[in-house]
Amino acid sequence: KTVLASGFDAPARGEIRRFEQLLIILDDAGVIQETHAEGSARYEQLLSHARQAGDLVAQPAGTYLLPGFVDLHIHAPQYPQLGSALDQPLDVWLKTYTFPLEAKYRDEAFAERAYGILIEDLIASGTTTALYFGTIHPAANRILADKCLEKGQRALIGKVAMDHKELCPPEYRDASVDEALAGTQDLIDYITRHPDNSENRVKPVVTPRFIPACTDELLGELGQLAGAHNCHIQTHASEGDWEHNHVLDRHGMSDTESLDRFGLLREHTVLAHGNFLSLVDMERIKTRKAAVAHCPLSNAYFADAIFPLAVALEKGVRVGLGTDISAGPSSSLANSLRSSLWSGRLLESGTDPAMAPGERSSRAGQRIGMHTAFHLATAGGAEALGLPVGSFQPGMIFDAILVDPEAKAAPIRLWQDLYGGDEILEKLLYGVTRANIAQVWIGAELCAGEAV
Ligand code: GUN
Ligand code: FE
Repeated sequence: KTVLASGFDAPARGEIRRFEQLLIILDDAGVIQETHAEGSARYEQLLSHARQAGDLVAQPAGTYLLPGFVDLHIHAPQYPQLGSALDQPLDVWLKTYTFPLEAKYRDEAFAERAYGILIEDLIASGTTTALYFGTIHPAANRILADKCLEKGQRALIGKVAMDHKELCPPEYRDASVDEALAGTQDLIDYITRHPDNSENRVKPVVTPRFIPACTDELLGELGQLAGAHNCHIQTHASEGDWEHNHVLDRHGMSDTESLDRFGLLREHTVLAHGNFLSLVDMERIKTRKAAVAHCPLSNAYFADAIFPLAVALEKGVRVGLGTDISAGPSSSLANSLRSSLWSGRLLESGTDPAMAPGERSSRAGQRIGMHTAFHLATAGGAEALGLPVGSFQPGMIFDAILVDPEAKAAPIRLWQDLYGGDEILEKLLYGVTRANIAQVWIGAELCAGEAV
């Protein structure tokens, strides 16, 4: 395929590339072979070749191609609970609402229905890659993998491991360490041997829910399993002070240090939240080449805390953005992107009644810019996962969304007589809704919308 489009990407942090009528040459697997700007001889030659071969996808004037969004932290089974029970403390929310909901996925028909709706909604909202927590149930996790493959979404999926009897109720926990390991191994085998997964579009993830939900024995075994299979790892870390203090009391150290000694802090480990990370924790994450999934909306509701994003980026920690459905009440990663912009500013500008009149908070430099947020939502999340997606450079796989600002249901008014260049991108990112996402491409496959 050959795509001709205008748009933006952000291959490096803080850097935006704007392209006009860029010719993007894809191979059959959707890997970008070459890109050419208008005007060169090669451009004309490839363009007319694609026209003759009938495989040119020329995007309409006034639309914008962006890299697809990478959702670096999302709980697939919690989708039915979106927009519900957001007023509870995390531990109460887990026990009273979330574990009973997740337990329903023992019913395969329910899993079929709920996961089908979720994957369709996410793709339509522009999420081309998602790092999912599943449930404890092997059958439901297989169904989640099937749905992603069926609908074409790039996905990393973890069987949630949780065997600690103090926190996890009998109806929703792994009965033993062996059961948790067998369920994890089952999903690894199922995904790696799946006949429709030849492109490795779906990958397995070792997923201890978080330290409070797991016995030490299980954490150690999962670390070994991840090492043996060279698997991605995901967990929650230093999210709220209840959870952070639990680990300090139980292990006498922070989450990152504890995860590290279990072999769970490695390259392609994704730690959700990280609000209570110290500078030493950040250094440890960086050294291990692990990453943080920043979930600003979820943090506002359940962690009562703000992740010090700018400090982590300054330290060189890999970071991406997550919706954290359903602790975050939006399925659109664009909402996480927008929230990452204001959450840093709240950290910076919070007032303190003890301050003298006119005095300012001393926490300067906590905000990030729109360029950085766009990078984190696309190439940054992809780098955290080690996936070749997130920008339109040769060697990358073509995962993209086409934004139509003129969608009738939700027009984004660009006022192009008044605004141009990066200001257009800013308006698109602040305005984009599902209604504006006219096409979603994953690995050169049109997974939502229609090509015109
Ligand atoms: N910590 C452990 N499980 C969860 C979860 O499902 N959501 C959030 N936000 N934090 C968690
Ligand atoms: Fe979470």
